[in-house]
Amino acid sequence: MRLEQAKRDYYRRKAREEGYRSRAAFKLKQINSKYHLISLGHTVVDMGSAPGGWLEVSSEIVGSKGIVIGIDLIPVRPVAPNVKIIQYDITSEEFPSKLKEIIGERKADCVLADLSPKLSGVWDLDQFKQMELCHRVIDLLPEVLKAGGSCVMKVFQGKDMESLRNRLRTAFSRLDVSKPDASRKESSEIYMIALGFSGQVARRSSQDAQEERQSEQLLDSSGFVQP
Ligand SMILES: C[S@@+](CC[C@H](N)C(=O)[O-])C[C@H]1O[C@@H](n2cnc3c(N)ncnc32)[C@H](O)[C@@H]1O
Repeated sequence: MRLEQAKRDYYRRKAREEGYRSRAAFKLKQINSKYHLISLGHTVVDMGSAPGGWLEVSSEIVGSKGIVIGIDLIPVRPVAPNVKIIQYDITSEEFPSKLKEIIGERKADCVLADLSPKLSGVWDLDQFKQMELCHRVIDLLPEVLKAGGSCVMKVFQGKDMESLRNRLRTAFSRLDVSKPDASRKESSEIYMIALGFSGQVARRSSQDAQEERQSEQLLDSSGFVQP
């Protein structure tokens, strides 16, 4: 535990010293130095981007000929001329057309999703909501990501993770799971690294969707499991 705290302090200090607004920046740096998903001139879409650490890292890597589009429910301070930020809910019905307006005909080389719902403290509910956000990102991929492109997605490990993993596995030629050093060991988050997008994603199977609806119904509005 003390070691984990020391690591957290280390990355916090490092973020301050290197001018990043969140220590999350180092998670993306570590992932990208291993997988080389983002390069000079790339188009990157970052869903769930506040406060903007991943936007800063992506902006540096893509340079002035590249573009980074950040989306979050909450406002994000401007980052750089090559970063466009929109305040939007990615689950809203209008989001795909809003994104299309901004991205135009070009599709992204890389889609990032470091999404976290507002945490209630009730693990089953928070994990369920985070999983729903991940499925939403997967649903959007054919419209947003170019064939051959890649995706980095944070996942709260737990129930129904297999259905998410299966959808990614069939949509990409390679799927790795990564836990960057900058991510807290005790946290349940992992990162799915998906490379070589086929251009298509499988629909959620009706059985998965039904089971997930049932688990949603089991949770009442305060997040407690119904007997
Ligand atoms: C862990 S933070 C992202 C940190 C970011 N990668 C960074 O480097 O600073 C997760 C973000 O997901 C956003 N989020 C959650 N649900 C969302 C939704 N439906 N639409 C857009 N953003 C969402 C939250 O507002 C939060 O800012």
